[in-house]
Amino acid sequence: MSFWPTQDHWSVEIPLHTPHLRVDALNDTGFVQLSDMPTDVPSSEWESLEYMDWKSGGDTNFAPIASADGELDCRGFWDKGKTDKDALWTSNAEIAPTLREYVDGVGANFGRVRIIKLEPQDREVAMRSIHRDDNNRFNPDDEGWVVRSWVELTDNPDSYMLLMDNGPDGLPDPATERRVPLPKGARFVVDTQRLWHVVVHNGDSPRYALITSFESGPALASWIDSQRATATV
Ligand SMILES: [Fe+2]
Repeated sequence: MSFWPTQDHWSVEIPLHTPHLRVDALNDTGFVQLSDMPTDVPSSEWESLEYMDWKSGGDTNFAPIASADGELDCRGFWDKGKTDKDALWTSNAEIAPTLREYVDGVGANFGRVRIIKLEPQDREVAMRSIHRDDNNRFNPDDEGWVVRSWVELTDNPDSYMLLMDNGPDGLPDPATERRVPLPKGARFVVDTQRLWHVVVHNGDSPRYALITSFESGPALASWIDSQRATATV
């Protein structure tokens, strides 16, 4: 029997409905696909960084590029009493100027910025790590809801981010399953506090991606609108 989360899963307690300001583009499905990464990112910007042993969503390592206090630290901002916003660049940012400029160029308040290095995992293994994020702990109700954005750095067209919305029981609803392919340059924004998510990585080498927390608000909304993938007719 494959793993499936139950009411005892820690994600079930994470708030779903709150007064925080949301971005309209995410209201419907909690997901928006952007056009492919417009700039070329030199591989040294993810290969030469300092990685920390930090497990989240599988066999992972993370290289923090911006953190709560500028230290190379993967712990949640809440460990330092801080919302996942107003991040400071770490020493890794000096090695990744393209990525730093990219994040700055969004114009929205950002929290943790990091590279994930994920070892291959098939769907059965990945399902054990499906979860919702606690992105908005300590976030005042009158500020913007924190969501996450991805840029795929390595080319993994056979891998995908598995997303599921909540059923009435607060557990993932299989009828809402979505598979977001992860070729090089793919970009998307996910309300990861709302959607259950995990990456199925059908490869034989690690997958690298840039993950950034952004605060919802006018700046993020207009950036998403300017970057949305144009629908093909
Ligand atoms: Fe997550």
